Amino acid sequence: MESAAKKRTSIAIVTGASSGMGREFVRQIAGGYRSISQIWVIARREQVLLELKDELLKSGITDTQIRTLPLDLGEETAFQELELLLKNEKPLIRILVNSAGLGHSGRLENQSVEEALSMLDINCRALTAITMVCLPYFRKGSRIIQMDSGSAFLPQPGFAVYAASKSYVLSLSRALREELRARGISVTAVCPGPVDTPFFETGGITLNSVKKLFLEKPEKVVRKALFDAEKGKAVSVCGCSMKLVHAASGILPQGLMTSLSSLLFSL
Ligand SMILES: NC(=O)c1ccc[n+]([C@@H]2O[C@H](COP(=O)([O-])OP(=O)(O)OC[C@H]3O[C@@H](n4cnc5c(N)ncnc54)[C@H](OP(=O)(O)O)[C@@H]3O)[C@@H](O)[C@H]2O)c1
Repeated sequence: MESAAKKRTSIAIVTGASSGMGREFVRQIAGGYRSISQIWVIARREQVLLELKDELLKSGITDTQIRTLPLDLGEETAFQELELLLKNEKPLIRILVNSAGLGHSGRLENQSVEEALSMLDINCRALTAITMVCLPYFRKGSRIIQMDSGSAFLPQPGFAVYAASKSYVLSLSRALREELRARGISVTAVCPGPVDTPFFETGGITLNSVKKLFLEKPEKVVRKALFDAEKGKAVSVCGCSMKLVHAASGILPQGLMTSLSSLLFSL
């Protein structure tokens, strides 16, 4: 007789699956993880999620079922809905990717409170809630991938709330990694520099000449993130320039890093 554990469906959950890196995670997981039989994809735009499902069905690269969950992660009910679904179906979560996120630039004095808080709602609050709701369904070998940012390494004048929200993600990920070590579950914070996705357009952000130099393709960032997560790395940094920023942030004084960041990113 098959054990109850064997009957449980192996799944991946990806938030922010309608665009950019979230969508790329879905593609690469569907193409590369035969042991995962379902990917639950979360975002607000249901139509875009259905188009992604269609694209994967037609590509024939996978038998993985795509399950669309149109949820607004700014609403408390989204976490309750996912929690209920997990309680009813009791799947094994092999991979959780928290990729939903947003950024608005501008000095704090020029930003609305609503705009600033919307970043905290999705980048911090939703990421924390989704991770916690999923915790009972991980097993040994499960991977939690938190889409963080190179902004986590240093305060960023002109992008202050966003950078602070990403510092929160880095700190949370490192602490949770230790908490879950005994269960054999890894947590990886993915910290890229600028990536070529609709993120900037959505946030009304103009990419300056310095950020353009750092621009990476989402395919490359996601491939490295999945690789680093499989290796159980705490932090995934893609590209030499961001590795340099990461290293410098650990050596140079915070005050100097903040001044440099202010100078470079205002160009
Ligand atoms: N692109 C970059 O340069 C860059 C660099 C470093 C880190 N990151 C981080 O990487 C992650 C992914 O960014 P990306 O570049 O892929 O951005 P993106 O293309 O703009 O995608 C953002 C995703 O978040 C979802 N989302 C936003 N608000 C939501 C809400 N209220 N409820 C549910 N889903 C919501 C969007 O879906 P819907 O609109 O359909 O809801 C979309 O799928 C973010 O955490 C971002 O901070 C990005």
